[in-house]
Formats: sequence, C-alpha cells, structure tokens
Amino acid sequence: MNGKNSFERLERLPAKLLHGGDYNPEQWLDRPDILKQDIDYMKAAHINVVTLGVFSWSVYEPEEGEYYFEWLDAIMDRLYENGIYVILATPSGARPAWLDEKYPEVMRVNEYGLRNTHGIRHNHCMSSPIYRRKVTEMNEKLALRYGRHPALILWHVSNELGGSCYCELCRERFRQFLEERYHTVERLNQEWWTTFWSHRFGNFTQIDPPSPRGESSIHGLNLDWKRFTTWNMTDYMKSEIEVLRRITPDIPVTTNFMRLYKGLDYHRMAPELDIVSWDSYPAWGKQGETLWDTFAQTAFEHSVMRSMKPDRPYLLMESTPSIVNWHQTNKLKRPGIHRLSSLQAIACGADSVLYFQWRKARGSFEQHHGAVIDHLGTNDTRVYREVSQLGEELMKLDQLCGSTAHNDVAVLYDWENRWAIEDMAGLSDRKRYDETVQEIYRVLLRHGIDSDLVSEETEFGRYKVVIAPMLYLLKPQTASFMKKFTEAGGVLLATYMSGYVNENTLCYLGGFPGDGLREVFGLYSEEIDSLYADETNGAVFKDGGDNACEIRDFCEIVKVQDAEIMAVYTQDFYAGEPVLTRKVWGEGQAWYLAARMDEAGMSSVLRRVCEAGGLEWERLPTGLEVHYRYKEGVRYTIALNTAREKIIYKKRLIEALDAVVWEEEISDADVKGNR
Ligand code: GLA
Ligand code: ZN
Repeated sequence: MNGKNSFERLERLPAKLLHGGDYNPEQWLDRPDILKQDIDYMKAAHINVVTLGVFSWSVYEPEEGEYYFEWLDAIMDRLYENGIYVILATPSGARPAWLDEKYPEVMRVNEYGLRNTHGIRHNHCMSSPIYRRKVTEMNEKLALRYGRHPALILWHVSNELGGSCYCELCRERFRQFLEERYHTVERLNQEWWTTFWSHRFGNFTQIDPPSPRGESSIHGLNLDWKRFTTWNMTDYMKSEIEVLRRITPDIPVTTNFMRLYKGLDYHRMAPELDIVSWDSYPAWGKQGETLWDTFAQTAFEHSVMRSMKPDRPYLLMESTPSIVNWHQTNKLKRPGIHRLSSLQAIACGADSVLYFQWRKARGSFEQHHGAVIDHLGTNDTRVYREVSQLGEELMKLDQLCGSTAHNDVAVLYDWENRWAIEDMAGLSDRKRYDETVQEIYRVLLRHGIDSDLVSEETEFGRYKVVIAPMLYLLKPQTASFMKKFTEAGGVLLATYMSGYVNENTLCYLGGFPGDGLREVFGLYSEEIDSLYADETNGAVFKDGGDNACEIRDFCEIVKVQDAEIMAVYTQDFYAGEPVLTRKVWGEGQAWYLAARMDEAGMSSVLRRVCEAGGLEWERLPTGLEVHYRYKEGVRYTIALNTAREKIIYKKRLIEALDAVVWEEEISDADVKGNR
C-alpha cells in the first residue's frame, strides 16, 4: 500500500478550527461580480474553508463524457490565493438528467415496486453497477485533477446518504447477503422462527424484502433488511472511497451524517471514514422547550457523533447561520444563539463550525433557506455580523483543535437495538428507546457528567461507568464485554427490557437477561407489566433519602438470587418487590433497574451508580452545560449558559447566553477516565 493511515491523513487538515460551509459558485457563473464579492465577504467573516461541488454533476458533465472543470479550477485557485481551503464533494448526491434517461436502472424502486422518474436527489439505486461506474469515473476525474491542489484538505463523499431501494438488483443482493449470513435456508428458518404462521422458506430465491403488501411480520427478516441496507450503502460508499484513496492516499475522507437517522447504522459506516461529520439543524427557540432542552438534545447528537471515533475530533459539516426552510415554523435564531450553539459544537469535540450555506440560491427548493449572505446581497446584516464575530472568536480558540473528550461514562445507544425495539410487537406503544437513552444523557449532563454514546460492539475498558438502558437485543459479544468490564472494577447499570432476544431476535430461554447476564446481575425477570399512560407506581430506596419519584410505562417483576435490594416498588400486587438491585461482581458492581423512572428517580439511581464508580455528582446551576476537551496536558473547560440570567460557576461569572472557555494544566492521572 502506498497509502497513509487514517491518522496520518488527518494531518492534511489545517491545525485550526474550520469556519465556512457549502458554497455553490456554479449557480452564479454568469455573475463574476458576485463571485468576487463572495471572496471579499468570506475573508471579512474569517471563513477559512468552503465545501464545493456537492451538487455539481450536471455542470461538470452536462452530456455523457463531456466535462467542464475550468470554472472549478479558477475558483479553487482564487480561494487558495485568498487563504480559503476547500472540502471537495463527490457529486453523487444528485444525478444529471442524461444519466436517468439513458440508464433507468440507476433510479430507485419503492417498496410497492414502482420505479421513480427523474428528479430530486439522494434517490439512487445503491446496487446499480452502472451508477457505481459512472460515479467512479467522475471521482477519478476529480481526484486526478484536484488531488494535488493545495487548497484541497478533505473529500466529502456524496451527501447525506440514506434510503433504500427495492429493485431486482437490490432484491438479489439481499438474498446473497442472507445466504452469506446463514449459509443454508434451514438455518435461516430456525433463526427467523419461520415455522410460525407457516412461513418456512424452501430456498433463498423465495425471500423478498419486507413490504407493506407482502411479508412484514418476521422480525428477523425486518432486522436483516435494515442490516442489508446499511451493508449495501456502506459497500457503495466504499466504492466511492476506494478510487479517492487510490489516487489521493493522503487526503482524508468523510461523509455527512444526519443526526440520529434511523435508516442506517452509522456505527458500521464510521470505520470506513477518516473523520466523522454531521449536519445539525435543531429548532432553536422551539415552543414548549427550554433552551437548555434544545441544547441538551443537540449535545446528545454531538456526543453520538464524537463517540464513533473518540480519539479524534469530528466536524460539524452543516448548520444554519439563521433559519432552515423545512421546519414547520422556521424561527430565527435569536441574537447570541448562533454563537452559543456553534460553541456548543466545539465544546462537544467538533473542530469546525460549517454552514449550509454561504449564499442563498436565487431559485428552486432551497431559495428561502438561511445563509450567511441573503438575497439582499450585502454584508450589512445581523446574520453576517454574528457569523463574522464568531469567526473572529474561533480563531482565538485554535488551540482547542485536535483536543478530545475523555469521558468516564458510556451509555449504550445501538442502532440494531433501536430497530429491534421499534419492530417488537408487544408490551405497549410507549417503548421510547431513544427518549429513554436521551433522558439518561440529560440527567448526567445536568449533573456535570458528559458521556459517550456507544454501540454494543464497544469494549468498555476505557470507562468507569457503563449504562445500558433497554438492551433488548443482546449480542453474545456484548454480554462478555459487560462481564469483563465489571470483573475488572467497572460499574454497570442495566434496566428493564434487557437481554430478551439474541441478535436475530430469538428470545433467550431460561430467564432474562439472557446469555449469562443473569448471574452477573444476580436475578432474572419473571414478568413485565405495562402501565397505561396515566398510571404510576413508586419506589422506596432502602438507603433512605430521595424517594419522590414516579414510575411509568414498564415494571418488571424480578426474582433476586444473590443481589442486594436497593429499592422496592410501593404499589400494586408487586409492592415491596425489588425495583433496584446491586450485585458485586469481580472488582466491580452490576446494578439493575427494573422499571422506568421519571427524571427525579433517574437522578437518584444515576447518582448512586456514578458515585459507586468514584465520580463526582454535582447539580449544575439551571441552564448551565459543561464539557471538557483534553490535549497535551491541558484540560479545556467550556461552560455554556443557556439561561436568561447570569450564573456563577467555579468562581467564574457567566453572563446570560454566554459561553466561557478556560484551560488548566493537568497531570496525566487527572485526565478523566485515566487514559
Ligand atoms: C441537508 C443537505 C443540504 C441542505 C440542507 C438544508 O443537510 O445536506 O444540502 O439541503 O439539508 O437544511
Ligand atoms: Zn436497487
């Protein structure tokens, strides 16, 4: 291999925080005055990078095999001369009309078997050999032409990959995927439990993707289709990356993820990338939410992204400097919110604040989406001023670049588990896996603890406390990671609905949680009760103190074998039965929470668990959010005040809506997590 490794490729990124965003000069090629003005305004706003070419295919190649790159040559040169770097996208996010006209197989087929007609974007058949070939040809051209351009720092593969296709090519690849997974149809029949309702298959050719007019009742099938969609998308993404790595082995690669997008298991895609990046569009100032709520939700999303590659920063690839055009009500960011939300991204571990978009398009679907430069065309706007002030501030924070979080706590947040819980038929319609994980994250955040959000396939050795809420789908490997972690002194908390099914959704026999976890927690769950929306239960903690909590939705009745009972139910026929237990296992502890508690209850439980892990538990002033980044013996604390009043924290005054960053020298032993 002539290639550099992933860490070496990252050296291509300048050692500063990136500030910039999507730039579409191809929409303004007949307006050189505007293109000139763009550069002047960018420089004045301290923009140091732009993303080019995300949707440029029909300009690069207006007819098959006819290429026009001269315009891009000129723009890349000019940007570089003016100190602005380029993230260059591969243009596969939207297809030129000639491609669909000539090769209809590249257009997606929906779940009813109907092929799309030409239009919109992000709607290709990921299996189509023709599509892959055409994209490869284009990527080859771009890599050869711009691979050595000094402005180029990063490849941006396609755009917001997503969705799935049900064409014959995809169906066939799905069957091959199943064959590789199960080898024989008999094995598949067992794992999918197809004797139920007479669903046994005689061979792989009889299997189709789940469909609203066909099969949708086999959980194993539904889950494997989602796995396949991720596998096929990753395979497609790899085909794009391969050509870039071959020609430009020293340029790092990313693709932009979409929040907590359910359709793809990002944990399986991230390993193919050099750096994770994502697009963040919260509704700042949403009715019925405090600003802290919106911030905490966004911090959760940032943390999911950061945790995919915890040893390096990630990038905020898109955010809006003002409004989007697709929320139901597109409220302006109030003065100061742009700065605070952007510094939150940095606080959570991003090395960039990038926008969609630099300049508003004059026409078509996103003409009313916010941008740094509006249709007004001048820099004399509130948005521009806030952007340029932020740019100036980011320059002063360049020392944070490359620093990373070292969190002591991991919370499991796993796509396959999300899918399995969502598809599970039973209990109640308030399963709320995402909300439950988010609630835990929020309670920790309120108490000064940032946490990583990790998949089931993470080794937990770097953490002191691991929280595994609602781990319904338990993989054998995860059970063994949990045992190892606890044996070595870690503190583990699992909850109701843990270890019910294996990775193919077959129930564990012999008591939940299955796969040997029963002995770790010293109990098994005999029954689970689902409560109506307005029903509650309560808990009494045996060590006294904070009992004011409500239990809702789910109550497991557990049979304790050799665990200590820490709290019991207060009501119903299981009043007095255990709701919170703890067992010493090896050097560590395994805690089990049998019911869904409200925020007060979760605070009580998490405080006990975190303190057992030797962590500090401190209720932060209302509205405050705190994150840490570490680099070379220095700890950076970033404190964000989302409240309308000033806050005093660690003897520092933080004004309303202000963010404060400070640094302290620390010894290695002081690095949280001891890494
Ligand atoms: C996404 C896309 C962009 C743009 C923005 C609008 O993030 O990647 O091309 O459509 O949304 O918010
Ligand atoms: Zn297809």
